[in-house]
Amino acid sequence: MDLHAMDLYIKSLIKEAGHRIRNSFLTDITIESKSNANDLVTNIDKEIEQFFIGRIRRDFPGHRIFGEEGFGDDIQTSEGVIWMLDPIDGTMNFVHQKRNFAISLGIFKDGVGQLGYIYDVVNDDLYHGVKGRGAYYNDEQMRPLMETVIAESIVAMNATWAVPNRYLDHEGTLQLIRDVRGMRSYGSAALELAYLASGRVDAYISMRLSPWDIAGGMVIAQEVGAVTTNFKGEPANLLKQDTFIAANPAIHQELLKKYIRLK
Ligand code: IPD
Ligand code: CA
Ligand code: CA
Repeated sequence: MDLHAMDLYIKSLIKEAGHRIRNSFLTDITIESKSNANDLVTNIDKEIEQFFIGRIRRDFPGHRIFGEEGFGDDIQTSEGVIWMLDPIDGTMNFVHQKRNFAISLGIFKDGVGQLGYIYDVVNDDLYHGVKGRGAYYNDEQMRPLMETVIAESIVAMNATWAVPNRYLDHEGTLQLIRDVRGMRSYGSAALELAYLASGRVDAYISMRLSPWDIAGGMVIAQEVGAVTTNFKGEPANLLKQDTFIAANPAIHQELLKKYIRLK
């Protein structure tokens, strides 16, 4: 796999997709609900996934595609090269705010992340990572994460987990809110991972994420030394939905042991 050539190809593909998304602001979009009333999808999510898939199938016929909107392949195993794509991560923000969403793409070979991209379409900010060669914010290399402690950390997490719920002991979340310097909730897993990699937050925690939400961000975050696992401390799941935590290595274990208590 020629990572350099693929990197150039993907950057131009992502920029073209971003251009299409920005143009969609001038059109009427169709909004539907998926698993529940707040789980939104638009015609643009679908069109952008189809745009990527058309190009990938034409130019990389041996590769498989794992896309959120289901136009790709049925992925049950991790062998070969798999493109994990979320055409719009943060669709609720896309619909309501026209900002704070991203294209998220990770390229994995035999289960190992090779290339990762998160494109903040409205700000024209591209975060990317190349296995073994670092992570970049636009074309500036990002530095390894500096050691931190819980009391000086900013943690990104959805507010849902601070109220009583079926899955997580919310008292643990409340204790975390008391102990950290600040909490944030941006509404796009991909952007939250990009912010972790760039040191703007120190951890990102989610009860339920799918492979396409995390694949691109994992490659980027790992290149600056972040740890990415599920709540059991196992490698993050790239085949199905699971719990997810990405954190500065200095606080990862403490977050899991002291604050995150599954019911
Ligand atoms: C969602 C966003 C959101 C996260 C959800 C994801 P979508 O992705 O990343 O921040 O909390 O779990 O499903 O549906 O906008 O692509
Ligand atoms: Ca998503
Ligand atoms: Ca999506």
